[in-house]
Amino acid sequence: MKKVSIKVTHRVTDRRSIISRFATKGYFFSSPLMQISLIIAAVMIVASCSDIKRKPGRVYMPDMAYSRAYETYSITEEEKQALEKQGIHFSNTPVAGTIKRGELFPFLLAKDKDGDTTDYAASKLVKSPLHALDTPQLVEAERLYLVNCGICHGPKLDGNGPLYKGGDGPFPAKPATLVGDAKYESMPEGQMFYSVTYGKNKMGSYASQLNTHQRWMVIAYIKSKQGAGKSATGASAGSAAVGTDSTAAKK
Ligand code: HEC
Repeated sequence: MKKVSIKVTHRVTDRRSIISRFATKGYFFSSPLMQISLIIAAVMIVASCSDIKRKPGRVYMPDMAYSRAYETYSITEEEKQALEKQGIHFSNTPVAGTIKRGELFPFLLAKDKDGDTTDYAASKLVKSPLHALDTPQLVEAERLYLVNCGICHGPKLDGNGPLYKGGDGPFPAKPATLVGDAKYESMPEGQMFYSVTYGKNKMGSYASQLNTHQRWMVIAYIKSKQGAGKSATGASAGSAAVGTDSTAAKK
């Protein structure tokens, strides 16, 4: 059995002599070389304790970790042409007119150029692709209207929302009086859709806030309110389609 016996008379606080004393007893730090390498290893461990990784570690099977495939839509037009020169033809953008699964048929009329009204006029003939809305759908359509349109057109669709306030509000232009003005009561749904999609004068486009389906729903809601307001006067094609719905029940 080995015993470390340190005589009282030999007690020295000098570090080296303690280490060398251990060394004589055959301990791990025996050689100075071992001591130096231990210190270096300790420094390296401390120094490498950082969250910032500048280089990846070793990669096992790099061709699997880093795919050579291109991400959809990720390459530029120049890169695409460079690939075509190598005989690689791939279309990274969908063909014009492509629609996603479950999407409504797209609105084919483009936005008119400034001063032109050809497509705006043509939009009168576009019919809503939606069937008459049932009560839960009308509730949702009303919600969409109140969130997106009510601020200007008013919760009562009278063109007097809080942003306009009869001219006292901050919004400079009079929003259309959707209920109560013959011009808008008789406006075909397709034309409304055109204006909500592309904007009209001071009113911006709602194509980025509401998808195609939601825009048609909001318009169906407006038409349902118009139908309710003047059911005796007869209605445009649009309000007839929706007016037959639960408008009476919807007060
Ligand atoms: C920031 C205020 C504002 C908001 C919000 C707004 N509108 Fe308008 N809207 C207007 C103004 C102003 C006009 C009148 C534009 C004109 O004819 O000069 C208008 C006109 C209209 C018209 C008549 C378009 C035409 O062709 O004459 C319709 C329909 C309409 N808005 C529907 C909506 C719907 C639906 C929403 C919600 C998705 C909405 N608006 C949100 C301000 C607004």
